[in-house]
Amino acid sequence: MSKHAEARRVTVPEIRGLKGRQKIVCLTAYTAPVAALLDEHVELLLVGDSLGMVIHGLPTPTAVTLDMMILHGQAVVRGSSHALVVVDLPFGSFEASHEQAFRSSVRVMQETGCQAVKIETGEALADTVAFLVQRGVPVMGHVGLRPQAVHIDGGFKAKGRNQDERARVMAEAKAVDAAGAFAIVLEGVAADLAEEITRAVRVPTIGIGASPGCDGQILVTDDMLGMFERTPKFVRRYADIGRSIADAATRYAADVRGGTFPGDAEVYRFKPGG
Ligand code: KIV
Repeated sequence: MSKHAEARRVTVPEIRGLKGRQKIVCLTAYTAPVAALLDEHVELLLVGDSLGMVIHGLPTPTAVTLDMMILHGQAVVRGSSHALVVVDLPFGSFEASHEQAFRSSVRVMQETGCQAVKIETGEALADTVAFLVQRGVPVMGHVGLRPQAVHIDGGFKAKGRNQDERARVMAEAKAVDAAGAFAIVLEGVAADLAEEITRAVRVPTIGIGASPGCDGQILVTDDMLGMFERTPKFVRRYADIGRSIADAATRYAADVRGGTFPGDAEVYRFKPGG
């Protein structure tokens, strides 16, 4: 959709209806200007709790709070007008009870204006998904490598290397599908398992480090823009923004130190009596 067309956001049923018809393009966004740049190119913008690491320099997402998610969610909704905006529920904001998950979802949706929430859902949380969906909260599931489980797993570990793990991830995806999620992120899942899951569930699968056979793909935008030297194996770089920023800062510093910035065109001079 062009930026100038009547602003109408992609809807949850439209995302669900794209399964098997068209690949679904998704990216993360955390700020209004970046959301505005990405908006017309994607169907879905995710305000992921990866913002803890990407924006705030935290080592893991477990320190991210609901207030942080809401602040960035507001910025992304303000910056976009086309993509469906989904906001992650962070660690500790939904696991204690169905009611806690509902209250957190309502805060996120009311205070940001986003259309849906995402929760990292093992099989144990499928009934939380059902509780939310039955009460009007669209939920995107997230199975496989679950970054919020980093301390349980002892690191960010891809899933699907042995039969037990494969069966577990498949069961999680089926449970989240049956619970009424409108899409499921498959993160860090063996490619053949991601393809099996995509065939087994009714809703679109969105892969990250999974398989081109998923119904859609998502990447952390800052990873694909080349903001960081080290990125996971599954990231493809489409730009070298980190280097561009460092180059710009080097040239700026040289100009300031050399006294060539600001130049004549970059200062105000008032004419006497003007
Ligand atoms: O937090 C995030 O950005 C995510 C994506 C990687 C799917 O969950």
